[in-house]
Amino acid sequence: MVIDKKYIELFTNVTARAAYGAYLHKGKNDKIAADQAAVDHMRSELNKIDIKGKVVIGEGEMDEAPMLYIGEQVGNKSGPEVDIAVDPLEGTNFAAKNLPNALAVMAVSKKGNLLQAPDIYMEKIAIGKNLPKNLLDLDNTVEKNIKLLSEAKGVNPDKLTACLLKRDRHNNIIKSLESMNVNIKFLTDGDVSGVLFVADKNKNVDIYLGTGGGPEGVLAAAALSCLDCQMQTRLVYENNEQKDKAKKLGISDLEKKYSIDEMVKGDVIFCASGVTNGDFVQGIKEVGDSFESETLVLHKSSNFYKIIKKKLDKNIYK
Ligand code: FBP
Repeated sequence: MVIDKKYIELFTNVTARAAYGAYLHKGKNDKIAADQAAVDHMRSELNKIDIKGKVVIGEGEMDEAPMLYIGEQVGNKSGPEVDIAVDPLEGTNFAAKNLPNALAVMAVSKKGNLLQAPDIYMEKIAIGKNLPKNLLDLDNTVEKNIKLLSEAKGVNPDKLTACLLKRDRHNNIIKSLESMNVNIKFLTDGDVSGVLFVADKNKNVDIYLGTGGGPEGVLAAAALSCLDCQMQTRLVYENNEQKDKAKKLGISDLEKKYSIDEMVKGDVIFCASGVTNGDFVQGIKEVGDSFESETLVLHKSSNFYKIIKKKLDKNIYK
């Protein structure tokens, strides 16, 4: 079952508007307000669309409402049943501090086709296309994965670049990469973009690895699944409460490693709109009574891969 192409425009409006909401708080050093504005605008725009939507990846749980929480119903309650993954503001710090790469991100599939996971950490490993299937594995050492990748690409490890979040929890990974002379591209935040780098040869990133947000992991998987790339993930539980949340969402095997096809089944539309200028899209620009947005849009079944620019009337969002 495919998602009709007519939804591309409508979903682009959703992330464009969420980006505009966050943009109104750009540089105000208040990431909570920026996030809330992105959520409110995203929800309002989603509720105009002819879908029976369910948020399967969202901003926390129902008791943390008014964010777009896991299980929330969105859309105008007519039309197809769909699963929705949202990160209304990816890079809350970036937006609050007026730094590059803040995005509003969403992915939509048919009902039951996106991994429904709690808002917890996730281990991730991702590589680009045209590589042997299931080449790498989270249970391999970093050294083994780098060796496999360098053999598959026919280059020495010192010609590879690995991207990861600069976090203390990654110190052992960093040591291993350094011991093999792998080039490292550190991120301060924003691992949806980080994972997406592997899909774009101009970004010169051969592998993304490390632990980051679970929602960001599923969203990045949605994008990579449109681009024939590979990704493997595993949820990381910090306490029993998180395990209980996962079980309630239907996850029985807590140690499971997810392939990209298990996280994103069938057709999917992915949209990421810039709040601030970034590696993939430019941020919101105000032009008189309008604002201009740029959105990276992918639709798997129609091989759609485009940056959509929109000029929207900001008065209708007051
Ligand atoms: P927010 O936009 O929610 O602040 O997330 C930014 C981010 O860098 C994500 O891209 C990443 O997955 C996660 O935070 C990593 O979490 P942590 O900062 O706790 O290491």
